[in-house]
Amino acid sequence: MRAVIQRAYGDPDVLSVGEVDVPAPGPGEVLVQVRAAGLDRGTWHIMRGKPSAARLAFGLRRPRHPVPGLDLAGVVLTVGEGVTRFAPGDEVFGIGRGSFASFSVAKESKLTIKPASIGFEQAAAVPVSGLTALQALTNVGCLASGQRVLIIGASCGVGTYAVQIAHHLGAHVTGVCSTGKIELVRDLGADEVIDYTVADPLVGTAPYDLIVNIGGTARVRDLRRALTPRGTLAVVSANDNGRILGIGKQLRAVALNPFVPQRLRMLVSSENSTDLQRLATLLADGSIRPAIDRVYPLTDVASAMQRLEDGLVRGKVVITP
Ligand SMILES: NC(=O)c1ccc[n+]([C@@H]2O[C@H](COP(=O)([O-])OP(=O)(O)OC[C@H]3O[C@@H](n4cnc5c(N)ncnc54)[C@H](OP(=O)(O)O)[C@@H]3O)[C@@H](O)[C@H]2O)c1
Repeated sequence: MRAVIQRAYGDPDVLSVGEVDVPAPGPGEVLVQVRAAGLDRGTWHIMRGKPSAARLAFGLRRPRHPVPGLDLAGVVLTVGEGVTRFAPGDEVFGIGRGSFASFSVAKESKLTIKPASIGFEQAAAVPVSGLTALQALTNVGCLASGQRVLIIGASCGVGTYAVQIAHHLGAHVTGVCSTGKIELVRDLGADEVIDYTVADPLVGTAPYDLIVNIGGTARVRDLRRALTPRGTLAVVSANDNGRILGIGKQLRAVALNPFVPQRLRMLVSSENSTDLQRLATLLADGSIRPAIDRVYPLTDVASAMQRLEDGLVRGKVVITP
């Protein structure tokens, strides 16, 4: 099958298109014919091999799995031993292994049925980013209707879902992004948008019940000052150039948490079909819609990665095999 192949860590030029064997589904796994694959930040981390300590998990000298890509949407071709939830012909979306390819294997527990009302490209843009946003707001943030939430990094993959889900939950949503993406964030349902290039989003605003920190380099102590006395900080991303395994801010938040009345939490997103199904319900009833920046063919995956690396993506990029 045709697939993107990565044999070294480095810039987007390490990605090429070639031929590899079609993977075989093991017990509890499903073989999916990929119709579209989403590009997520984790796949960029694996391309770069950063933070370096993560190579213990990705592979020391080169990626353990030569075909990159996690998010996918497609059609079930065959199912492995013990699979009960899916059958050949089912249209699914979720998280697989090596989704930048014509075929990919995914665990049954990381897939759900794609709503008929949305296309494969839309569905492929959802899994990792949508799960992270949903879990930051609900599982960690316990966001309730009427509460005030600040989403720092509202224009990116995770942020565009966070704005929409928070709006759907009835919260007052303030999104933070750069000048060129203000309209996007407002269109997604933000009540207020702060341009971080002209104003400090943590200064001069009413306190927030929840801050979801996806982008930027704000310090935990400054984030805390913008919270209500019993507010919650959900740290999704550290952005500390890979120091302390790339989770320095998360560790500081967790270490401080027992000593302060606020709830300081790090988020480690969970890839599970229960939360994917919650997202499928929101997609089906139109409560959320993927913000798709561009769709690239498999042969242009290096350009897609470059666009993500340059910070130009508005929402999500999708790859079609
Ligand atoms: N914890 C987990 O389990 C988990 C899961 C998934 C992803 N993540 C992490 O979440 C992050 C988001 O990933 P992504 O690919 O969706 O987004 P991304 O491409 O990393 O986007 C970063 C966001 O931060 C904003 N931003 C940049 N500089 C800023 C600043 N100085 N102040 C405030 N905001 C700023 C950007 O706004 P503009 O684009 O408008 O400049 C953009 O909205 C990544 O670091 C990823 O590793 C964590």
